[in-house]
Amino acid sequence: MVNWLDTAVFYQIYPQSFCDTNADGIGDFNGIIQKLDYIRSVGCTAIWMNPCFDSPFGDAGYDVSDYYLAAPRYGTNDDLKRLFKEAHARGMHVLLDLVPGHTSIEHRWFRESMKAEKNEFTDRYVWTDSVWEEPDGMANIRGISSRDGSCAVNFFSHQPALNYGFYKPDPKKKWQQAPTDPGPQATLEAMKDVMRFWPGMGADGFRVDMAGSLVKNDPDGKGTIALWQNVRAFLDEEFPDAALVSEWGEPDKSLLGGFHMDFLLHFGPSHYNDLFRCAEPFFSERGKGDASEFVKKYMESRKKAGKNGLICIPSGNHDMDRLARSIEKDSLKIAFAFLMTMPGAPFIYYGDEIGMRYVEGLSSVEGGYNRTGSRSPMQWDSSTNAGFSAAPSKKLYIPIDPMPDRPTVEAQQNDGESLLNEVRRLIAVRQSHTALRSRGDIEFIYAEKNAYPLAYIRSDNDERLLCIINPAGHEAEFPYAIKPKYKVYSIGGEAYFVGKSVRVPEKFAGIYGV
Ligand code: NOJ
Repeated sequence: MVNWLDTAVFYQIYPQSFCDTNADGIGDFNGIIQKLDYIRSVGCTAIWMNPCFDSPFGDAGYDVSDYYLAAPRYGTNDDLKRLFKEAHARGMHVLLDLVPGHTSIEHRWFRESMKAEKNEFTDRYVWTDSVWEEPDGMANIRGISSRDGSCAVNFFSHQPALNYGFYKPDPKKKWQQAPTDPGPQATLEAMKDVMRFWPGMGADGFRVDMAGSLVKNDPDGKGTIALWQNVRAFLDEEFPDAALVSEWGEPDKSLLGGFHMDFLLHFGPSHYNDLFRCAEPFFSERGKGDASEFVKKYMESRKKAGKNGLICIPSGNHDMDRLARSIEKDSLKIAFAFLMTMPGAPFIYYGDEIGMRYVEGLSSVEGGYNRTGSRSPMQWDSSTNAGFSAAPSKKLYIPIDPMPDRPTVEAQQNDGESLLNEVRRLIAVRQSHTALRSRGDIEFIYAEKNAYPLAYIRSDNDERLLCIINPAGHEAEFPYAIKPKYKVYSIGGEAYFVGKSVRVPEKFAGIYGV
């Protein structure tokens, strides 16, 4: 049991774009260290940092070429160690991003595995026995190795799939190995060594990239679940406090595998995009959205995941559009009222707390493609390059949002009405009511098709809190006959508890003890 997770509010840092202290146009570890007090002042107690290891950066670092080396552009291993230490000194924790499913084609393991002569790394990746045979159903790399074979890829074509075996190897295809075969076992041991190294340096655990993708031909995830159980058992023995958060999107599987929390994904069946990112999001003052399908799916997964199954709902991340691309100013505050009152640890994507916008029309940077607009540099103040970097603007890794009214921390810091200060208030409310934190229960009492508001009860042994969320630009009403005992929080006015129903104003969020 990793207790700090129960009260954690995460801040996600894309290290490239957070704070540059050596004027090379790209963020660095020192910059993150300098901004720890700011992150803590928002109310965040933990950090997830995107991959920061040596890489040719064909996919922003999700193409690792050395799992043991911090990317020199961010600093040294010692700088990273110092980041952990400085975070701990402020009562914060740091999760690194582990990419166990694939490496870069430049990783030494892959270069060795491309050789015709058999060696220690021959079975490190998923290779067929002939360049003319492609691994069924999987995109692959072929024609660049002296080895006769095709190598499966896990994501982009330059990300060869590490070999953890096939759940049910096809006996007619000798190249498909079982997870218990020596090759897949050696891969797993190699990845466990990586997972030993960083907690040994002070990391508090990992967000695990594509955690459900490791064992191939494993439709029910049984092989991959068993693999992670093996990992968890080793961590429990050697690093019992190391937290594991999965990018999997199926908490019933990931939590069985030993993950502490699973992300709600913006793709697949979650209906997460109905809330924030579609033509008519629920969190818009137009009031034409629908949260009912999201609620249905969310409650189904919660039930499947069981009592301890925590699902994390992010405000955004480096793979999806900025929250502020499809929802407007006040609606952002209401969206945060929802995010900060849901179970599971909330994750705030850097800059979302000030409403940073998606930067339109950018060319793709480091495999970002349409994701690049969500990865632009953090906007600190009104100085050069929004305070992100002292480099000439042309040298910046990604251009700054060019809009003259771009939001900044400086402008919002002293404005009581700003989004930043609303997020601070909401986190403080969450932290002072255990029912609102990760492990408090949730029961939806009003989540009707195409209707507003959304209402739910968060509860634990101490309290029952009614949360009412109305992003629509019109009043809304729902049936509820219990009079509140006290008010915990509201924005946008007051709720009226009249007879058997509750009426709330437009663009409103409220929390009441009932
Ligand atoms: C998911 C990561 O979040 C994404 O950025 C990356 O491109 C893929 N996994 C591949 O690692």
